[in-house]
Amino acid sequence: MTGQLYHCSLVKTCNWTMRVALGLLLLLLGLCGSGAQREEGGLGEVGEINEVQVTAPRDAVEEKTEQSTKQTVPDIWAEVRALRDMLVELKVYVEILQRENSDLQTRLSSTERELLVGKSRIDQLERENTVQATELLSLETRLTATENKASDLEKKNADLQTRLSNTERELLVSKSRIEQLERENAEKPKVAFYTALTDAGYVGPHNTDTTLKYSKVFTNIGNAYDPATGFFTAPVKGVYYLQFTVCGNHTGLMGVFVFKNNQKIIYNVEWKEDKLYKYFTKSVVLELLAGDTIHLVLPSTHSVFDDGDNHSTFSGSLLFPL
Ligand SMILES: *[C@@H]1O[C@H](CO)[C@@H](O)[C@H](O)[C@H]1NC(C)=O
Ligand SMILES: *[C@@H]1O[C@H](CO)[C@@H](O)[C@H](O)[C@H]1NC(C)=O
Repeated sequence: MTGQLYHCSLVKTCNWTMRVALGLLLLLLGLCGSGAQREEGGLGEVGEINEVQVTAPRDAVEEKTEQSTKQTVPDIWAEVRALRDMLVELKVYVEILQRENSDLQTRLSSTERELLVGKSRIDQLERENTVQATELLSLETRLTATENKASDLEKKNADLQTRLSNTERELLVSKSRIEQLERENAEKPKVAFYTALTDAGYVGPHNTDTTLKYSKVFTNIGNAYDPATGFFTAPVKGVYYLQFTVCGNHTGLMGVFVFKNNQKIIYNVEWKEDKLYKYFTKSVVLELLAGDTIHLVLPSTHSVFDDGDNHSTFSGSLLFPL
């Protein structure tokens, strides 16, 4: 609205200006042609405005228009009146324009202030935006680092879980193996015995072979030795270690037979001189089946000696089952 009004005003102003200039030119011509007309007045109201402009070109146009002035005098005064009216209008319009201009300047100043405020706000927002962008970048970097770390931890965790599972399986196997060994150990037959012959002193010599019944039983794990018969019976198939010590105090033969089942497998013998006590010790390692028996026999004409001092002993144990 203001732009249109302003544009329109400019056009009107130009038109009026041209018309005023033309009118003044005609007035000048008229004045030059007849100076007496001044007395009638009417020019007094407009003369103050146009006085400067009308003085300069007076001489230049004086001669050229001299012939026609008389005929145009009435028209000139009419034109002067019209011009005076137009000047009045023009003044009013100039005042309007000045008011509009003042109003526009006020609004322009206000707009410029708002623009400054807006620019300042934009600068502030741009600074804030820059700061936020920096923070966002920093956060993204940290997020990426954290994600990488989490990924590493997940891989390590998976690895540890795999190792844990393996270890747990191995532990189960080990436990199972230990239980098996414990069962085997518990089930493994334990066989050991240690005996001495008698507290009675001399045994023999007899006319026949006589089974020696070692009557003092000090150790008999597994009860494989029977003092009632003098027989050791292997409870399981395995390898057995057996040992016996024979003491003699009579002058003459001292010795024993070793029987496996009913088979004589050893004969050990010494001739004792007329001295105090004589000993020999024999060991044997035998592979026996379950139920096999071992016993010692005093051959006829031989003798052994034992008393509370445990001179003659018989012992044995299972080395390992087969
Ligand atoms: C053992 O023999 C010796 C020598 O012959 C004898 O002096 C001793 O009394 C005998 N010991 C026993 C317990 O008979
Ligand atoms: C004979 O052996 C038994 C059992 O080991 C023991 O108690 C006893 O004291 C022994 N006798 C001697 C004289 O060492």
